[in-house]
Amino acid sequence: MTTRLVRKAIFPAAGLGTRFLPVTKAQPKEMLPLVDKPTIQYGVEEAIASGIEQVIMVTGGGKRAIVDHFDRSLELEHYLEERGRSDLLHILAEVDALSNELVITYIQQKEPRGLGHAVWTARLLVEGEACAVLLADDVILNDGEPCLKQLIDAHRKTGATVLAVRRVPRNEVSRYGIIATAGAKNGIYEVTDVVEKPSLEDAPSDLAALGRYVILPAVFDELEKGEPGAGKEIQLVDAIKRTIGSQPVVGIEFEGDYYDTGTVPGYLRANLTLAMKREGLREELVPLLQELLETSAEGSAPRGL
Ligand code: G1P
Repeated sequence: MTTRLVRKAIFPAAGLGTRFLPVTKAQPKEMLPLVDKPTIQYGVEEAIASGIEQVIMVTGGGKRAIVDHFDRSLELEHYLEERGRSDLLHILAEVDALSNELVITYIQQKEPRGLGHAVWTARLLVEGEACAVLLADDVILNDGEPCLKQLIDAHRKTGATVLAVRRVPRNEVSRYGIIATAGAKNGIYEVTDVVEKPSLEDAPSDLAALGRYVILPAVFDELEKGEPGAGKEIQLVDAIKRTIGSQPVVGIEFEGDYYDTGTVPGYLRANLTLAMKREGLREELVPLLQELLETSAEGSAPRGL
């Protein structure tokens, strides 16, 4: 079995964030916070913990804040130093340490032609290697092995393109790429088909491929053809599908808490759940939530809001 090292991770981050307007009019959606950390930082932390050496951010217009976030802010550091705020300097140092642990490269996707096109934009930087793709909207947290690490391990064992799969409620299949499988061996599904956002009737299963991938170079050859799919966009999943038969494609049911922060309800759910896990915030939130529940039952606004 071929074993390939996965050193690079592509982060498609050029989307216009229309689901979050107006907040995304002048701010990248990847910078929206989960409690106090931008969404994209969770993905970069996962990449580092999975052994990735280079992150390739595919950005578009208006994404300057992402570049600035992973850069040092000497002005802010100086300001905090003068005021003896070592507690806050410590937080800045943590972000700075991320960009010291790996190289972050930025490349522009000049037209919004879909996820597959964004990934294809990074092809020359990938240099013909198997690489990872992380969708920052999909935040996956795990106390044990990070999700991407689980995929890379499966890639080491199989030499395959690897998808991160999880069962979703049947009535939600049209939101995801859905796989067909001949069954699993040692927890690894052999993928026989994958369909981007199928209707309920056409969905081959309830196993959704969520936002983590390890892709073989052949996927770039398929993306190169530029064939549009669902929503008239070039879809990553379609390119992966076209490699089935000539290249191995597998899926693993990953371990970890999955948060879909790409919609307003999912984003709010993620924020609330993470805030409730944070000491110091939980104590404030519990009485507030209780009050909210009581008052919403009565149909009036809670006190103090
Ligand atoms: C993307 C992918 C889809 C995947 C989903 C969730 O869709 O195209 O295959 O299942 O992310 O990770 P999007 O949510 O960007 O429309």
